[in-house]
Amino acid sequence: MNAKLAVLFFLLTVGMAMPILLGIRSIPDIQLPNLHTGYQPEQPIPYSHRLHAGVLDIDCQYCHAGADQGRHAMVPTLDTCWNCHKTVAGRTQTAKEAIGKLRQAYMSGEGVEWKRVHNNADFVYFNHQTHVRIAKYIDADGNISDGIDCTYCHGDMAKNGVAKQEEQLAMGFCINCHRDQNDRHVAANLPARAPVNACDACHR
Ligand code: HEC
Ligand code: HEC
Ligand code: HEC
Ligand code: HEC
Ligand code: HEC
Repeated sequence: MNAKLAVLFFLLTVGMAMPILLGIRSIPDIQLPNLHTGYQPEQPIPYSHRLHAGVLDIDCQYCHAGADQGRHAMVPTLDTCWNCHKTVAGRTQTAKEAIGKLRQAYMSGEGVEWKRVHNNADFVYFNHQTHVRIAKYIDADGNISDGIDCTYCHGDMAKNGVAKQEEQLAMGFCINCHRDQNDRHVAANLPARAPVNACDACHR
């Protein structure tokens, strides 16, 4: 860990331990600065979620197959696109041109270097499978569902053209949900497993 981070950790630990040491139960919602919300870089091929996940209604996990299987949801390789685009060449001029780029990238074997949209710092551990498949999500009315919906953290991706960061995936966002979920789990006689004060669960 570098020195700057060590200092931040120290200050944060002291700051966050205070209410606990003082026995105060409800810590105010934590908000750290985060500049990523709204980030929507231009991509090498104008792939559209609005069209594919919205209009064509293709399941998110058809392309992001890792989401319930492991840590990373993963962005698909062009093989997945090619399942359709070996035959779908596009109707309008813009579609033909964009799909032409795809064809060229696939045929040449070059692939596409998509620009990363969400990029939490390396010192944060986040696992998709735990959240998308293993977690039980309990809403404010006490209804329990298996797994947390993509929209909770990524907003309505199907309304976007190229992907955009909708939510501020900062520490407060994670911890506020964890705290609420643990309270609701306890109320429902279920084990509360989401880390709140265990810094090393998320910072490994
Ligand atoms: C037909 C394939 C396909 C489908 C279906 C699809 N995506 Fe994507 N997704 C992609 C591709 C390709 C990218 C990379 C290009 C981009 O960022 O726009 C991407 C990017 C993303 C990103 C940003 C990745 C990053 O770099 O941070 C998120 C989040 C995402 N998709 C969520 C979803 C959700 C939620 C759904 C369902 C509503 C969905 N996707 C449906 C292909 C797909
Ligand atoms: C509890 C919050 C949460 C949920 C639910 C969630 N994600 Fe994510 N997602 C994240 C975070 C945080 C990142 C950034 C991870 C990083 O930078 O290491 C991310 C990153 C991604 C990425 C970028 C590539 C990667 O694997 O890091 C894609 C694609 C993605 N999510 C798709 C999905 C899809 C599809 C779903 C639903 C099936 C989903 N996510 C559900 C929080 C979530
Ligand atoms: C299930 C089938 C299917 C899959 C999988 C699929 N597409 Fe498409 N895509 C379509 C259809 C249908 C159209 C509409 C073509 C038209 O009629 O103009 C389209 C259109 C497009 C267009 C043109 C957009 C525009 O402006 O009209 C691009 C670019 C594109 N797809 C890229 C991709 C990429 C990249 C992937 C893989 C990440 C992918 N597609 C996966 C079916 C698919
Ligand atoms: C919508 C609510 C929600 C959000 C938002 C959320 N989590 Fe969680 N998280 C949970 C629940 C519920 C569990 C307990 C899962 C179980 O039953 O094991 C959990 C468990 C975890 C665990 C322990 C299990 C594991 O995967 O190792 C870690 C670490 C974690 N979350 C990190 C994060 C991070 C980092 C973020 C923010 C980027 C985040 N979470 C956002 C609900 C959430
Ligand atoms: C539920 C997961 C989770 C837990 C538990 C957690 N953090 Fe974090 N922490 C995060 C996330 C997410 C970020 C934001 C990283 C980013 O912006 O890329 C973060 C950022 C930080 C940063 C950097 C500040 C900044 O501005 O980015 C410090 C320092 C930190 N955490 C310390 C702590 C300490 C100390 C604890 C224990 C009291 C703790 N964290 C518990 C998820 C968590």
